[in-house]
Amino acid sequence: MTAPRITVNGAEAPISPAAPHTTVLDFLRERGLTGTKEGCAEGECGACAVLVARPGTNEPTDWVAVNACLLPAAALDGQEVVTSEGLATAGPAGAPGALHPVQEEMAVRGGSQCGYCTPGFVCSMAAEYYRPDRCAHTDTEPAEDGTGTEDGPQHGADPEHGPNGFDLHALSGNLCRCTGYRPIRDAAFAVGAPTADDPLAQRRAQSPPSPVATEYVRDGRAFLRRSTLGETLRLLRERPDAVVVAGSTDWGVEVNIRSRRADCVVAVDRLPELRELRFGPGAVEIGAALTLTEIERRLDGRVPLLAELFPQFASRLIRNGATLGGNLGTGSPIGDSPPVLLALEASVVLADADGERQVPLAEYFTGYRQSVRRPGELIRAVRVPLPLSPVVAFHKIAKRRFDDISSVAVAFALDVEDGIVRKARIGLGGVAATPLRALATEEALEGRPWTAETAGAAARVLRAEGTPMNDQRASAAYRSAMLGQSLLKLYAQTTEAVTS
Ligand code: FES
Ligand code: FES
Repeated sequence: MTAPRITVNGAEAPISPAAPHTTVLDFLRERGLTGTKEGCAEGECGACAVLVARPGTNEPTDWVAVNACLLPAAALDGQEVVTSEGLATAGPAGAPGALHPVQEEMAVRGGSQCGYCTPGFVCSMAAEYYRPDRCAHTDTEPAEDGTGTEDGPQHGADPEHGPNGFDLHALSGNLCRCTGYRPIRDAAFAVGAPTADDPLAQRRAQSPPSPVATEYVRDGRAFLRRSTLGETLRLLRERPDAVVVAGSTDWGVEVNIRSRRADCVVAVDRLPELRELRFGPGAVEIGAALTLTEIERRLDGRVPLLAELFPQFASRLIRNGATLGGNLGTGSPIGDSPPVLLALEASVVLADADGERQVPLAEYFTGYRQSVRRPGELIRAVRVPLPLSPVVAFHKIAKRRFDDISSVAVAFALDVEDGIVRKARIGLGGVAATPLRALATEEALEGRPWTAETAGAAARVLRAEGTPMNDQRASAAYRSAMLGQSLLKLYAQTTEAVTS
């Protein structure tokens, strides 16, 4: 096993003497790469975004933007990172001081004012610039507001995509306090395609860095990564106190905001057994360590309720690291995936050194941040049974449309045949100490005609589900009201679909 090291902007950098809890952000800044900024240190502002070479969906390697403030440097042992400084010299111009095409567009279109957020924006923008399936729209009609007809970029048919295919969601985890965003959007919608001699574009055709086993121990604390599931499970049996991390999006917050220093951290995000996605005859099985972005791209809409969830889950930067295993493993009552997975009647596959067991998600949560998962047990996969119910919706009530924590989240999956609700499954988040199924409401719907009267009566039942509380995000009364409204909204959406 070689000493842990990261390839940063093309040059190898040893992780030592950083402590095992040192984030990639601090590691880079310690090395003088201060373009990478700290804004919030909890994954909300994107000032710290950097590019990491990861296994690709359409090419062997993708350049993926992640929050450097949340990721332990030791987690990138053997991996490749590019920062805003590296972008400047990695673009086709290649000369020191030359700007990368995304930096050039940000500069000439006024996308940078105080500049604090800019390195993070250009890294997120560069990840989208290099996305292999980004392609220009053929519809380049001028926008209704008249912009983009002469010098500036045009808008595509979809307001969230540029005529160059740029998906604005790529920037949903980056905050700017100066520009008002319009010049940043203009820059994003103006970037062209990478040229053939662009080294980062060429890098996509090569294999991604292989995962390496890591044994990084300093001052009595350890960051450990094993190569196989079996070795990892044996390690967890020896160290049941270990903190298990995948995308580290929760770990980073614990370290930065709550000053938590775990004695032993075990990484599972590169284990092949946790990174499979399989459609079987009776279920789709999703590896617990696939990132939400990977699941979204691999499913490509085949599980419509998950497709509704993904754009509303935090931001692209977070989804590039976060996993279903992590979202269920933390047991948060306001995680966004549990309501959806409850409505889908999903189960978790738990593995330990003795074997596996499957637990319905409805029986998984036992209390506030508690579950039936035993010490030494790992979530290997999530199973969603097939066939899927056809009437689905995910309603997340939060103060911001993106990059926010839900006050209340409701997921619906209904079978409606010949106008009768044959089956109803409803998952709730934010209304109790655990995510839960709205069992009374399901009963109020099943066997009844899907009418305004039924929806109204069931909405009254839904308002009384759970034990919502008052906190800084919302009052209990508001949460209850939103539960009822979400069912009425679902009814309105389904009847609009029928009559339109
Ligand atoms: Fe704000 Fe990392 S510093 S997301
Ligand atoms: Fe100042 Fe974005 S340019 S925060």
